Amino acid sequence: MAKKVDYKELLQELDMSRLPRHIGIIMDGNGRWAKERKRPRLYGHREGAKSIRQVVELAVELGLEYLTFYAFSTENWNRPEDEVQGLLKLLKERLIKEIPELNKQNILVRFIGSDLNLEPGYLKEIHEVAALTRDNTGLVVNIAFNYGGRLEIVEAIKRIAANPEELNQIDEQLISDNLWTAGQPDPDLIIRTSGESRLSNFLLWQSAYAEIYITATLWPDFDKVALLTALLDYQKRDRRFGGVKQ
Ligand code: FPP
Repeated sequence: MAKKVDYKELLQELDMSRLPRHIGIIMDGNGRWAKERKRPRLYGHREGAKSIRQVVELAVELGLEYLTFYAFSTENWNRPEDEVQGLLKLLKERLIKEIPELNKQNILVRFIGSDLNLEPGYLKEIHEVAALTRDNTGLVVNIAFNYGGRLEIVEAIKRIAANPEELNQIDEQLISDNLWTAGQPDPDLIIRTSGESRLSNFLLWQSAYAEIYITATLWPDFDKVALLTALLDYQKRDRRFGGVKQ
């Protein structure tokens, strides 16, 4: 029988001086996980929310600075209405439920994404709940919600174009400064679960030099051991940012 991977052993292997500052996560495979258990897709999403908790807990333990979770894409509106409504409800309920713990752990929650198609009452509510963490100074958790990387770039360009003084000063920094992630470091590592090798419109601008880690694990099975495994893989990479090794 295969030896069970030990969390403590993996933790000891980690080089704490070479951790990523920002990890982006494409949480995929909730539907397949539920199907394997003959349960509705929403059951998979609910279990997936538990994986988010595990990742956040370990991120706090390790002192990571930024996590971005891809929770709902601008393309996810094409899913069946009951799944869409279930996801919106789940997101709001989990967020409300987690506020005391988020504040205890000094975690700042931010939404990145568009307001388009979202009911104003719902938007107001989730932003008010997230604002309860606004004074926190520890880990920043971005929830990419109604998020699309191309739309984010289009919106940034529109904002720049609306300011004629900025038009002849366009450079990479100005575009970064007008994205929903303005002021944050680019992700060093993008994790995608369930074996698919695509970015699916996630952090397109920001992931220019991100290391990409794909695991066959379905998102509801992703736990602290899985995150440590991804981090150890990341630490084996040779990041050259287009240059050559010194
Ligand atoms: C992808 O799996 C997953 C999503 C589109 C939703 C992810 C959302 C959550 C885990 C809950 C969000 C909650 C909070 C608190 C942020 P899939 O449905 O595409 O899986 P499949 O490819 O197997 O069908």
